[in-house]
Amino acid sequence: MRTDQANSRNLLPKTAAPPRLTHRGPEMAMIEIGGPDMVASRIALGTWAIGGSMWGGSDTRSALRTIDAAIDHGINLIDTAPAYGFGLAEEIVGRALAPNGRRRRILIATKCGLEWQGDKIRRNASPARIREEIDASLKRLRTDYIDLYQLHWPDPGVPIEESAGALATLLQEGKIRAVGVSNLDRAQTERFRQIVPIRTTQPPYNLFEQEIAAELLPYATQTGLVLLAYGALCRGLLGGKMSSATRFEGDDLRRVDPKFQQPRFDQYLAAVAELDQFARGHFGTGVLALAVRWILDRGPTIALWGARRPDQLAEIGTVMGWSLDAAAMDQIDRILARTIVSPIGAGFMAPPAADAERAAA
Ligand SMILES: NC(=O)c1ccc[n+]([C@@H]2O[C@H](COP(=O)([O-])OP(=O)(O)OC[C@H]3O[C@@H](n4cnc5c(N)ncnc54)[C@H](OP(=O)(O)O)[C@@H]3O)[C@@H](O)[C@H]2O)c1
Repeated sequence: MRTDQANSRNLLPKTAAPPRLTHRGPEMAMIEIGGPDMVASRIALGTWAIGGSMWGGSDTRSALRTIDAAIDHGINLIDTAPAYGFGLAEEIVGRALAPNGRRRRILIATKCGLEWQGDKIRRNASPARIREEIDASLKRLRTDYIDLYQLHWPDPGVPIEESAGALATLLQEGKIRAVGVSNLDRAQTERFRQIVPIRTTQPPYNLFEQEIAAELLPYATQTGLVLLAYGALCRGLLGGKMSSATRFEGDDLRRVDPKFQQPRFDQYLAAVAELDQFARGHFGTGVLALAVRWILDRGPTIALWGARRPDQLAEIGTVMGWSLDAAAMDQIDRILARTIVSPIGAGFMAPPAADAERAAA
């Protein structure tokens, strides 16, 4: 359990100075999350695919080796959630961090506010559900505190202030060190932080999903929030290894993800090919490094890179030690506008609210 002294550091002013970026040459760059007591790598490991569900299955040995590799590459922040594999991703993270006092060196970000029956996930951000979830997460993660506890999705059936109040209590109790939100818009975020100080926001953000650029990103920059950009590789599209012949197995969400359906899939693949050519010609890297670099050069961000095999993280080093200037950003915009004629956002991922389910029944 954390001490009261540790908790008092969480009481940040509602308008904080912009987060301090700490670059260290070609190695992993770091960023303060809400203060010097929480310094995270600018690339974090995302563990949704490690949970297996909606990703065609999980391989625990490979997942454990991926977490080892992430730490070897300088990553010290792991993002997970109870919903990823219905507890499995958290269990694997807990197992990976338990030996050798590793837990103390790594920041764990997990989430609350969803529940499931069988494999059907829906929103439940009631204080009672949140209380239940924190204890289950602590147990699966084999720890007695969470570094960053995030509301996963807003629940239209529960006033946002009630969910925020439940997180404020956990902060006071020392079960969590800091609070973040995910999938909240600017107005919801404002309401939330009237009740409890927050340090982060976690929306979808990548080269192909830029909806938050107009409001949430400037808001985060102005108010000192760190933005954890999820889907950094747009579910693998920006990894540069797919073709129109790529197929997905089992319950893999990309079988229904609208970006992966023709004729749109070919538009996104054409964008990937042009971006790759641009990256190779100008920076000597591939599209994957360009995509992650782009996120890091847009503001006070951390790129959440989902991986489930150690080799998928091999290119991390190529993201560091350079940056994209305004001219390069313009050229990237032109490539996107030319190739993607019918863009579509990440909205398909939103889980239903309990009310919506009742209405559909
Ligand atoms: N808050 C939220 O609501 C929310 C929603 C979504 C995600 N997230 C978080 O953000 C994290 C990242 O998002 P994401 O996992 O959805 O998507 P992502 O990071 O855009 O893509 C992950 C997938 O890309 C592929 N990939 C990884 N490295 C690669 C490489 N070097 N080359 C080619 N392909 C590569 C892998 O797929 P294959 O193994 O199939 O090749 C991997 O599972 C999640 O893990 C989760 O922690 C949060």
